[in-house]
Amino acid sequence: MPSLTERDKEVIWHPYTQHKTMLPPIAIERGEGSLLFDENNNNYIDAISSWWVNIHGHAHPYIAEKIFEQAKKLEHVIFTGFTHEPAVQIAERLLKILPGNFSKIFYSDNGSTAVEVAIKMAMQYWRNKGQVISDKREETRDKGQDSASGISLTTYPLPLRKKILAFKNSYHGDTFGAMSVSERSVFTFPFQDYLFEVIFIETPNANNIQDLKSFIQQNGNEISCFIYEPLLQAAGGMLIYDAKLLDELLSEIKSHEIICIADEVLTGFYRTGKFFASDYLENKPDIICLSKALTGGTMALGATAATQKIFDAFSSDDKTKTFFHGHSFTANPIACAASLASLDLLEKEECKKNIERIINQQKEFCLQLPTTNDKLQTKNIRQIGSIIAFEIIDGGDGYLNNISAVITQKALQIGIYLRPLGNTVYIMPPYCITEEQLNKVHEFLLKLQL
Ligand SMILES: Cc1ncc(COP(=O)(O)O)c(C=O)c1O
Repeated sequence: MPSLTERDKEVIWHPYTQHKTMLPPIAIERGEGSLLFDENNNNYIDAISSWWVNIHGHAHPYIAEKIFEQAKKLEHVIFTGFTHEPAVQIAERLLKILPGNFSKIFYSDNGSTAVEVAIKMAMQYWRNKGQVISDKREETRDKGQDSASGISLTTYPLPLRKKILAFKNSYHGDTFGAMSVSERSVFTFPFQDYLFEVIFIETPNANNIQDLKSFIQQNGNEISCFIYEPLLQAAGGMLIYDAKLLDELLSEIKSHEIICIADEVLTGFYRTGKFFASDYLENKPDIICLSKALTGGTMALGATAATQKIFDAFSSDDKTKTFFHGHSFTANPIACAASLASLDLLEKEECKKNIERIINQQKEFCLQLPTTNDKLQTKNIRQIGSIIAFEIIDGGDGYLNNISAVITQKALQIGIYLRPLGNTVYIMPPYCITEEQLNKVHEFLLKLQL
């Protein structure tokens, strides 16, 4: 009988994996709290919350119960022309806690689609505000003309804002819109000829803030939207940048009526220490993207929140102003039930205490981590909320540095799961990780020899 790993090799194509050189995947049978158990009952501390999603750890009984209850009641229903309790309830709860004046929630399936929705909303906002779109199909058919698209744009009284602004080193997902607004990198290289144009600016620092502001002053009126990962650029290398300077830049950007899209797919739900990273800022976004921890990492769900101003630009007797976007599984009731359960857990005192403890434990570890000793050289030790990151000085910076695979293997051997981004090592644990488990991860890194 072939093992699960052998069967996997026959039929599976894994994400972000070079199959030619990959090691056989570990067959995980179950999870409990911060631990993953393989088929031989070896356990691994999930020190990165399984791609940053499982804030309450694995197989949480409360979330599982709520999922089960919902599955027995209503597993799915089309979300146009129908609604259901879990979808409305999360929207009501999110709108109360989101940083800003949001009034509507649009559901999708994951982080990339939450971003895709946000960009499309911003692009169409400007179209809807200024342009009269008419369907010429009937007219052209009568005249025997080509009616391939059928849609014609007749007037545009306002100058159309087409430019899009994003940060260098950003990562917003793997669909085409999300790739377009992400820094061109090894991830997007094969597709670069197909991505739309975006202006990439540096994240603000003391040296460049004036230049960034003058750039916005000169070009702001042509820019439709600005998308940013507030305070932490995650996949771009766990890069942390300054809240005050981001606020200063956002003030300038907002003064030009540029739509601000905060991509909080990763930073949401206390990852940076506050409920949302935008809670550190005075300037609130017009659109916000959520996913990952939205369901406590148990089900795939994306949410894009919009202000009344954005929503109003789509509400019209003119049907062409409709937001023609949706997914088969939009607002899946089971995913929504999981999200409600995750929010319940987040509100518990125990969860807040755990986050506080992790933040302090990580802080102490950062102080102990030597920047240089005979075994290991590190640089840029940094922390935001429960996340810490640093670079290992070995073989150059960047995602393709093989040191990542070496560290992953060494960690697995002692029951820890880490997955550095190239030479950037980070810890992003579930909030239920115990003090002992986190100490074990820290000790591993303190004693690491390459
Ligand atoms: C900030 C940010 N936005 C969007 C995404 C894309 O999310 P998903 O992988 O669920 O499509 C990610 C994923 O890492 C992310 O970190």
